[in-house]
Amino acid sequence: MAPLTTFKLSMRIHVLGSAAGGGFPQWNCNCPNCKGLRTGFLRARARSQSSIAVSGNGVDWVLFNASPDIRTQLVSVAALQPGRGVRDTGICAIVLVDAQIDHTTGLMMLREHKQPLDVYCTNMVYQDLTTGYPLFRVLEYYCGVEWRTLSIDGEPFTVPRAANLRFTAVPLRSEAPPYSPHRHNPHRGDTIGVKIEDLDTSKVLFYAPGLGEVDDQVYRNLSDADCVLVDGTLWTEDELLRFGISTKLASDMGHLALSGEGGMLSILDTLSQPRKVLIHINNTNPILNEDGPERQALIERGIEVAYDGMEIVL
Ligand code: MLT
Ligand code: MN
Ligand code: ZN
Repeated sequence: MAPLTTFKLSMRIHVLGSAAGGGFPQWNCNCPNCKGLRTGFLRARARSQSSIAVSGNGVDWVLFNASPDIRTQLVSVAALQPGRGVRDTGICAIVLVDAQIDHTTGLMMLREHKQPLDVYCTNMVYQDLTTGYPLFRVLEYYCGVEWRTLSIDGEPFTVPRAANLRFTAVPLRSEAPPYSPHRHNPHRGDTIGVKIEDLDTSKVLFYAPGLGEVDDQVYRNLSDADCVLVDGTLWTEDELLRFGISTKLASDMGHLALSGEGGMLSILDTLSQPRKVLIHINNTNPILNEDGPERQALIERGIEVAYDGMEIVL
């Protein structure tokens, strides 16, 4: 008798939104990128705001962040609307990596859910979303939120229905949002990265769209992964200043710039194992220009730029 072959399903990652807050082009922005895209003079893709969906079985999906663009993002991926009932979704849980507007406002658009939304986030994020930006309080008048607290002490967690997947939150040094009761007084758990393991195939994704600093723990997670989807917000530390857009530096907003000494690219260069993909790209970032030298520099380093609709199979 022929031996039974066991078929292992891969972990699938859908990039729903690859831009930072504001998207690309941003509604009121006339930086060279936004203007170039709008007028057709720039070869680049429009991008919606930061979110991914991950599945271990192709049926049940964990949503990472809920962006203000979520309605169109969900419509664009058939697997997220399996249509098994008069009201249905492929999303079985939502993980928030921070309490920022671009990562959380989409929860409002999910208010028609027929039961409370299963939301996994840290105590710090919960605090912001019930005080400075009381989204969870507002949602109580609709479907409500079933909050699952995320440990930041390295204890893995699983999600009922998210078959074969195991998650571990990794606290990141970043900044709490402007409306946080502890803005400028960073707390562990304001921002996390997430290690996502496929227990069937042992493949690992490390997802960290907002990353201010790479400490030893973060570095270990980056080097051990099969794929990293990491913060590509800004090319230079003073990018917003240069365009006269804001006085904030990348580090003021909790983002590690890509270029320069100690920048994200120099760190990614030292990693030999993972596939390297940048995500959460701000509209001012020159890597969005597909014909520019910065994009060429990424290609030479083997670094990819996430785009809306990108599918990664591990
Ligand atoms: C950030 O990550 O810094 C945000 O994209 C800022 C915002 O959404 O306003
Ligand atoms: Mn953001
Ligand atoms: Zn712009």
